[in-house]
Amino acid sequence: MASVKAQMTELAALIGDLQELARPDAVQPGPLEVVPLHTLLRTALDRARLRGPELTFVTDLAPWYVRAEAPALERALVNVLDNAVKFSPPRGTVEVTLMRGELTVRDQGPGIAPDELPHVFDRFWRSPSARSLPGSGLGLSIVARTVQQAGGTVSLAPAEGGGTAATLRLPGAPTPPPEL
Ligand SMILES: Nc1ncnc2c1ncn2[C@@H]1O[C@H](COP(=O)(O)OP(=O)(O)OP(=O)(O)O)[C@@H](O)[C@H]1O
Ligand SMILES: [Mg+2]
Repeated sequence: MASVKAQMTELAALIGDLQELARPDAVQPGPLEVVPLHTLLRTALDRARLRGPELTFVTDLAPWYVRAEAPALERALVNVLDNAVKFSPPRGTVEVTLMRGELTVRDQGPGIAPDELPHVFDRFWRSPSARSLPGSGLGLSIVARTVQQAGGTVSLAPAEGGGTAATLRLPGAPTPPPEL
């Protein structure tokens, strides 16, 4: 039963990713609203903790309000955290910081080879060394698209001391805009 449940979760995530990707680029994204990024992150972190119960999450989240499509942004955050969980060594630590609109998710995994880095945002691309792990290679292509729609940027880089650091920058403000 546990295995069936885990596979259902995987399948549901894949369907969600495919639906997101199936929307043509030309089509306007869904309604944009002011969303507290720090709150979306906490929700995404709760899901990540379920996927990596033995990992340690060290978080430091300063309030940041962005204009985005909330469900799409939450999916993007889950996708980034999901990678950190998936590639973490057993009992590893995942560091998540949000400071002035810059989100960094850092893991202690194997890292990404420099010649592979340019491909990570391609649809269906997966490192040959990652093929034994679950996934379809869609996660980061969705992250790139959502972040771009919100006017931000995303990049992956080797973390100091090993592992990978994913950095998302989203335009916004530390306080919500006044009501119109
Ligand atoms: N934190 C990370 N550490 C090491 N490699 C990573 C990390 N994040 C991404 N990658 C590499 O980039 C590839 C693409 O990531 P992406 O999230 O798009 O796909 P996936 O995780 O393999 O599958 P999916 O996200 O669809 O479940 C991964 O397969 C892996 O090779
Ligand atoms: Mg992924």
